[in-house]
Amino acid sequence: MIFGHEDRGIDMKIFKTRDYADMSRKAANLISAQIILKPDCVLGLATGSSPLGTYKQLVEWYKKEDLDFSKVSTVNLDEYRGLNKDNAQSYYYFMNENLFSKVNIRKEATFIPDGADPNPERACAAHEEVIKRLGGIDLQLLGLGNNGHIGFNEPADEFIKDTHCVNLTQSTIDANSRFFESIDEVPTQAYTMGIRSIMRARKILIIVSGEEKADIVREAFWGPVTPKVPASILQIHRDVTLVADAAALSKAPL
Ligand code: GLP
Repeated sequence: MIFGHEDRGIDMKIFKTRDYADMSRKAANLISAQIILKPDCVLGLATGSSPLGTYKQLVEWYKKEDLDFSKVSTVNLDEYRGLNKDNAQSYYYFMNENLFSKVNIRKEATFIPDGADPNPERACAAHEEVIKRLGGIDLQLLGLGNNGHIGFNEPADEFIKDTHCVNLTQSTIDANSRFFESIDEVPTQAYTMGIRSIMRARKILIIVSGEEKADIVREAFWGPVTPKVPASILQIHRDVTLVADAAALSKAPL
């Protein structure tokens, strides 16, 4: 189901899906359309549980020869600071495991902030440089953190523009501890694309699933635009699509 939006003053396409599987298929459809229309596109990619089903669907369509990643380039939103590429919790590992090793993308065309680089200025500047060199992002896929974060842009007093090193909030550390053996192993810092780096993407696709995100969905897309809810900035992007399941939209004034 797609909703109109201008009447609420929000320039956003909203697809309400039945459930997570339906959300994943819809998101994969939108990403496929991008790849088909522009085979050498630049995709901005995300990690977390939200995009897993989307990546799985893209891999299936690749296997059926409906999709070709040979000319696609990708940049990822973020990476934990201090994790090496071979660490199973690194986003580098996640991306290889869930997408890159399963499709015909050129490894050298995939870019993730270098979490192993202890120098934040160098690692972040290098990532900004990559995005620039690729000519910007055509389609940026995003998940939504429980506290409204996008990438690892945590709630703050101001929007931080460029790729930067961030101190993760306790709520993010708690939420992400489910992927680690113990909470002490969760890194406390990450390198993340900034708000301007994200907002410069020509199109944005944000996917959200589950009732536990219903409050933050309402705040982010129907509340005021504020750095206290980083995703709220998406309300002023000119081409943003929200694909969310009925549970995540259960508190939205639709
Ligand atoms: C992590 C990632 C985000 C992601 C968010 C939500 O912190 N850095 O990019 O969107 O968590 O994760 P999930 O999709 O697992 O709820």
